Amino acid sequence: MTPVILTDAVHAYLSSLRAEPDPVLAEMEAQGDRDGIPIVVPETGALLELLARVRGARRIVEVGTAIGVSTLYMARALPADGTIVSFEVDERRHAEARGYLDRAGLLDRADLRLQDARAGLESLHGTFDMAFVDGVKTEYVDYLELLIPLLSERGIFAVDNVLMDGTVASGRGDGNWTEDQIVAIRALNERVLGLDEFDATLLPVGDGVLVGVRR
Ligand SMILES: C[S@@+](CC[C@H](N)C(=O)[O-])C[C@H]1O[C@@H](n2cnc3c(N)ncnc32)[C@H](O)[C@@H]1O
Repeated sequence: MTPVILTDAVHAYLSSLRAEPDPVLAEMEAQGDRDGIPIVVPETGALLELLARVRGARRIVEVGTAIGVSTLYMARALPADGTIVSFEVDERRHAEARGYLDRAGLLDRADLRLQDARAGLESLHGTFDMAFVDGVKTEYVDYLELLIPLLSERGIFAVDNVLMDGTVASGRGDGNWTEDQIVAIRALNERVLGLDEFDATLLPVGDGVLVGVRR
């Protein structure tokens, strides 16, 4: 869970400022560490929660639930009648996310779907105030094309891992991130930053978060 694009000292300082996570979130983070499940780091989770609150989001869509950590952060920002639709293809992770969100008292706001996001996004109706993308990196441009028409005016588009441990800057794979993934993320960063539909910026938070707001 340690973001390596920061110095150790900066990471330690940020960690020291973090309030104790609630017990369910702490359990999810422990499982993520134990089972090697790639979940958002706390700074990214806090950013997502903040963005959803600032936007006053009532409907959110997410690509890549895993065990529900990022889903939980965003669900906390929703009003009681709000919804986060989140797609996951791994049956076990999808079931675990359901269990955790239930125990966190947030399952009534979470519409968890065991489905490939590319098919799922095509079937959605209405508009969403926020979209978070955290699935297969080489599919990111596909998700973007499907999500643009679903975003409301001033809708937020956020993407995780857009710096990939710093490899996106160097352009070289590191054994974890491959050159194909780096090429895909560089293309996505350049595309979103250049889109007329968005005001966007790339934040060096966690593993790099691309944030756009629909014009
Ligand atoms: C990085 S993890 C998501 C982590 C989660 N957002 C969090 O921070 O707690 C990516 C997840 O996306 C799922 N996934 C991959 N391709 C997908 C697709 N096409 N549709 C839906 N889920 C997908 C994977 O099974 C994996 O669990």
